Amino acid sequence: MFYITTAIDYTNGSPHIGHAYEKVLADVLARWHRMCGEPTYFLTGVDQHGQKVQQKAEEAGISPQEYADMVTARFIALWKRLGLQYDGWAATTDPRHEACVQKILTSLRDKGCLYKKAYKGFYSVRQEQFLTDKERGEDGNFGPEWGQVIELEEENWYFNLTAHIPWLKEFVTNHPDCVQPEFRRQDLLMAIERATNDLCISRPKDRLSWGIPLPFDPDFVTYVWFDALINYISFAGYLAEGDESLPEFSKLWPAACEVIGKDILIPAHGIYWLCMLHAMGFTDEEMPRLLVHGWLNIKGEKMSKSLGNIVDPNDLCDVFGAEAVRYYLVRDTKVGYDSDYDPERLKMIYNTELANDVGNLCNRSLNMCVRYLGGVVTVADTLAEDELSVSLRKSLADTVARFAERMDNYSTSEALAALNEHVGQCNAFIEKTQPFMLAKDETRLPELQSVLAHLLESCVHIGYLLGCVLPEASERILCQLQVDGSTLNPQTLAWGVLKNGHTVQAPTPVFPRILSEEEKQKMAEKAAKAAAKAARKAERAAQEQK
Ligand code: MSP
Repeated sequence: MFYITTAIDYTNGSPHIGHAYEKVLADVLARWHRMCGEPTYFLTGVDQHGQKVQQKAEEAGISPQEYADMVTARFIALWKRLGLQYDGWAATTDPRHEACVQKILTSLRDKGCLYKKAYKGFYSVRQEQFLTDKERGEDGNFGPEWGQVIELEEENWYFNLTAHIPWLKEFVTNHPDCVQPEFRRQDLLMAIERATNDLCISRPKDRLSWGIPLPFDPDFVTYVWFDALINYISFAGYLAEGDESLPEFSKLWPAACEVIGKDILIPAHGIYWLCMLHAMGFTDEEMPRLLVHGWLNIKGEKMSKSLGNIVDPNDLCDVFGAEAVRYYLVRDTKVGYDSDYDPERLKMIYNTELANDVGNLCNRSLNMCVRYLGGVVTVADTLAEDELSVSLRKSLADTVARFAERMDNYSTSEALAALNEHVGQCNAFIEKTQPFMLAKDETRLPELQSVLAHLLESCVHIGYLLGCVLPEASERILCQLQVDGSTLNPQTLAWGVLKNGHTVQAPTPVFPRILSEEEKQKMAEKAAKAAAKAARKAERAAQEQK
């Protein structure tokens, strides 16, 4: 089972392009594994508890649940628009999740992993955590990333995190694939060296009521991170035997891929989460694998409300369409690294790679087949052995293999680059074989048939493989090619999907160019001039008739 999860987003603000990037990336990977015929379960959701939601709700004069529900609805609507196909929805106020968190807390306490103590120290309201001297900047102060820092003295419950650190160090050292990419695993190893404090896992109810109550101490609620991390197992059916609304845990766990941003690897996922699982009794083989992506910035700067540079993915979908946004997000970002969001690049990449290259290839190939061959694909018993045809077939086979290998390694951008390379080969093949010239000479019909069979077979493979990134466009391409994608599998995809006598449809463009306002204006002017010319011509004709 390929069990893939994402971070669950805070419901204290609307979704932005960074949230969308992570979810689209996970959706593309989930779709890829489904295409390969692997049983797949994709879980995503929202992190609804915590101080930030409580504060926002107070400001809005509504209950935290109402506030969380209102923001949750915005996330759900966006995911629908972006075509996310998830199997499970993790909302942390779900009673099934709350019950699981409480069972885990009780069991950890029974095992002696939790203790209560008084602590006095500095506390970041924004990050909802106590700060130590390690968090001070070089100037000795707590940096702006901590927001308002106050001094607090309070009793709380602690998880004996440090007891698990020796195990964690060994585990991360000996399991090279536990965190990808590799440089993030190295970051984690360094951070583990500095992990010397236990984790405070409660908040007194009189300060924060919006959380899951500790089952053994009603004056406290659970720290939001301790609650949120558990979503990966609670919604996978952990400790929920007999609840048919949840999956069977043993079928899903461990997660093959937990997709998270670089900011929440340390300490949340790389330290807290792995140690929590270890304390619960999960073995090394039962640990999830973390896939850490970089950040989408705006002109090199972090997106933030204070800078007023937050990008709403809905606005992008309005202008460019959801699939253009999906393509851009996975194509222009190398997984693991930061990238800069730039709408001009979105337009440029869409126009060159999709409208010009793939789109044109499909249109030209289908058009020529319909015009010259009545839409019938003729595949000879023995395939053409000329150099150009042999090399195009080899390029196609290599492309399919490369695409699959890269997708399996989470190199989504590079996988798409492989497809583009083959599209380039096909366009060069058209220039060299000149099917439009072949069509003028009846004696060269077999050559023409062979050239078009090569091009259309390529279109099938490309259109099909694009399906994990562009599900709608892929379906439209395959429909024009009259191929049922559900009968294909990337593992067995090879030359010969199109059989002799197969018929195709006339094309309708799947990737219309994205035009700038200026281009639209020019097009409108051109259309108006053409209409005026036609009207003048009609008038002249009418006068001549009189
Ligand atoms: N609620 C926690 C996660 C709990 S997971 C058990 C949280 N929420 S968040 O809304 O702040 O972030 C959710 C995800 O979005 C994180 O993986 C985070 O890295 C990612 N991103 C937030 N801003 C981002 C960008 N600007 N770019 C890319 N991803 C970023 O953290």
